[in-house]
Amino acid sequence: MYRYPSYNLSTTDLREFPGGTLFNGDCLDVIKTLPAASVDCIITDPPYFLGMTHNGQKGNFRDLSICRPFYRDLFHEYRRVAKPEACIYFFCDWRGYAFYYPLFDEILKAHNMLVWDKLSGPGNHYAFIHELVLFHAGKGANIGGTNIISDIKSFTSGAKTTDGAKVHPTQKPVALIQKFIEDATEPGAVILDTFGGSGSTAVAAVRSGRRFILMEQDEGYYHTACKRLEDEYRE
Ligand SMILES: C[S@@+](CC[C@H](N)C(=O)[O-])C[C@H]1O[C@@H](n2cnc3c(N)ncnc32)[C@H](O)[C@@H]1O
Repeated sequence: MYRYPSYNLSTTDLREFPGGTLFNGDCLDVIKTLPAASVDCIITDPPYFLGMTHNGQKGNFRDLSICRPFYRDLFHEYRRVAKPEACIYFFCDWRGYAFYYPLFDEILKAHNMLVWDKLSGPGNHYAFIHELVLFHAGKGANIGGTNIISDIKSFTSGAKTTDGAKVHPTQKPVALIQKFIEDATEPGAVILDTFGGSGSTAVAAVRSGRRFILMEQDEGYYHTACKRLEDEYRE
């Protein structure tokens, strides 16, 4: 059983599995309980808040400024908990990239932007069929291939039966996360996902023989992730 000794989270639930831990709580609180230099890779998919509506109005780019202190603190925490060799994969879309890039580059150092070509997607003015991934290469990393990934379908293109059921509105295919894990780490590595959703990163870690730490603030999605992992271990 993989344990961190320093949990002290009165408002946070957690569940331990043979390969890692799922936390139900705000990642900015939970990550502060992890020891420094304890994580081999970070793969995470934050909420895509641009384009949402509030008070009946469409959100705009400047609304994101209220999130800057949160992400500044979180990226400093990433730097603290990541080993120097750890690669970091941070999902975003064409609306959020301009917000994240300067912060990510300042605090963590961006080495590339990956493009996941989803093969299909929504949108009226040229359907947008890609997502972006800010990438930090850890010390000594040497990853082959190109920065465009175009052989993994998203759920919207009918991949439901090839990559498990869709249980979260913005669920990522396990195969995509598994590719990043296997590109960047060795078996036994610890993979951190601070915006865990339905647990795709934890499932990918189990399938790749890695360990995981996953944080999700929504209680419903936390239970969904627990259930997915139970099923994964049963199989
Ligand atoms: C884009 S979704 C991740 C989906 C995930 N990749 C999957 O495959 O299921 C982002 C998730 O982050 C969660 N979230 C938002 N703010 C959070 C926070 N401060 N701490 C932890 N989780 C948070 C949301 O509830 C949501 O489930």
